[in-house]
Amino acid sequence: MHRALLPGLASMILLASPATAADAPPGASSCTGCHAPKKVADSVIPRIAGRKTEDIVTFMREYRSGAWPSSVMGRIAKGFDDAQTEAIAAWFAAQPE
Ligand code: HEC
Repeated sequence: MHRALLPGLASMILLASPATAADAPPGASSCTGCHAPKKVADSVIPRIAGRKTEDIVTFMREYRSGAWPSSVMGRIAKGFDDAQTEAIAAWFAAQPE
């Protein structure tokens, strides 16, 4: 399957603004290919849109440290520092569940 690498380039500078799908923070587009911001029926990938920011951040920290086992998320979580992770988590939290 072919997947565009950076669909969110246009919205990379909007970290501090209110979160909407239109201004996802840098990095969020690395998540939405798998974790769709909108409802998808029958996905095997857990939904994270609408979850609490701190829950998403905690998951990411544990994936990164290896404390929580994963297939792909450990590798992905290592690509983001705490500030990036929080911005992405806050954006997902603001998306409709
Ligand atoms: C290649 C597909 C893929 C990408 C890209 C991806 N994820 Fe995941 N995510 C998964 C899968 C699969 C799981 C289930 C755990 C596992 O097997 O790694 C998961 C689990 C999670 C969970 C735990 C949810 C739960 O209820 O268990 C969180 C939080 C999460 N991902 C956040 C993110 C964030 C934030 C990003 C972007 C930085 C991201 N993911 C990018 C596939 C992906």
